Amino acid sequence: MTAVARIRRLMPRDIAARKGGTPIVCLTAYTAPMARLLDDEVDLILVGDSLGMVLYGFDTTVGVTLDMMIAHGRAVVRATSHACVIVDLPFGTYEEAPRVAYRAAARVMAETGAAGIKLEGGETMAPTIRFLTQRGIPVLGHVGLMPQSVNVAGGFRVQGKTSEEAERVLADAHAVAKAGAFGVVIENTVEPLARALTAELAIPTIGIGASAACDGQILVSEDMLGLGGDFVPRFAKRYAALGEGIRSAVKAYGAEVKARRFPGPEHVYPAGPGEAPPTKPLATVRERAS
Ligand code: KIV
Repeated sequence: MTAVARIRRLMPRDIAARKGGTPIVCLTAYTAPMARLLDDEVDLILVGDSLGMVLYGFDTTVGVTLDMMIAHGRAVVRATSHACVIVDLPFGTYEEAPRVAYRAAARVMAETGAAGIKLEGGETMAPTIRFLTQRGIPVLGHVGLMPQSVNVAGGFRVQGKTSEEAERVLADAHAVAKAGAFGVVIENTVEPLARALTAELAIPTIGIGASAACDGQILVSEDMLGLGGDFVPRFAKRYAALGEGIRSAVKAYGAEVKARRFPGPEHVYPAGPGEAPPTKPLATVRERAS
């Protein structure tokens, strides 16, 4: 907590009110320790289904389950008190019908304490977004590149390079806003499209690979911290090289264990007062039993 006492956690309406103002700072977190480290500095923490790839080593996000999202969402909410926490609905839990989406989203809200959910999709998902928001579930939309549709889209491609594609993303974003989403993530689109969307929509745009024109930015924390392996997507700036720090710390630990320099005397519990250390080796269980 900073010197100024905080009254309450940021909510979706606070994020929506930032349209056109100071850019909204967003990052992903999947665990309590990471969420605790981010909480003071970010406005919104997304428990993204990218956890399937980042934490679980899946090739895509398609295998992520609702139970996984709820377990991680609960940990992140418990570890934070400032940021607005939003949890992704994973593939297969909302696309079928608004009522199906409502049941999944209601579980997320009730079991994690998150402030809202995110789901991927534009015009097709607009009726679902409307259904959820009218029933008390704040929704963050997600258009442009939609990783859950990777098997149809044929890969993680930049969106909006052709006018037909740009028109589709524009229509999607407008449909999401009209349906009542409090904001929309725009992933991997060409810069002029993100700029046009940000100018046209009344809700904040949160960009990832979509340019500084957006109302806010989001990155996968592991990408920006240098914990995501050797591949760094073009849009993800590395602000730290924590992976290298971890590797060298583990190397130093291994060397000290092998050389019997760890644990040192300062890490060992001394005998209690008046207790003499054993002078003979302790009898083995077998010897004592015989
Ligand atoms: O799952 C996720 O982490 C996301 C962000 C990349 C926006 O959807």
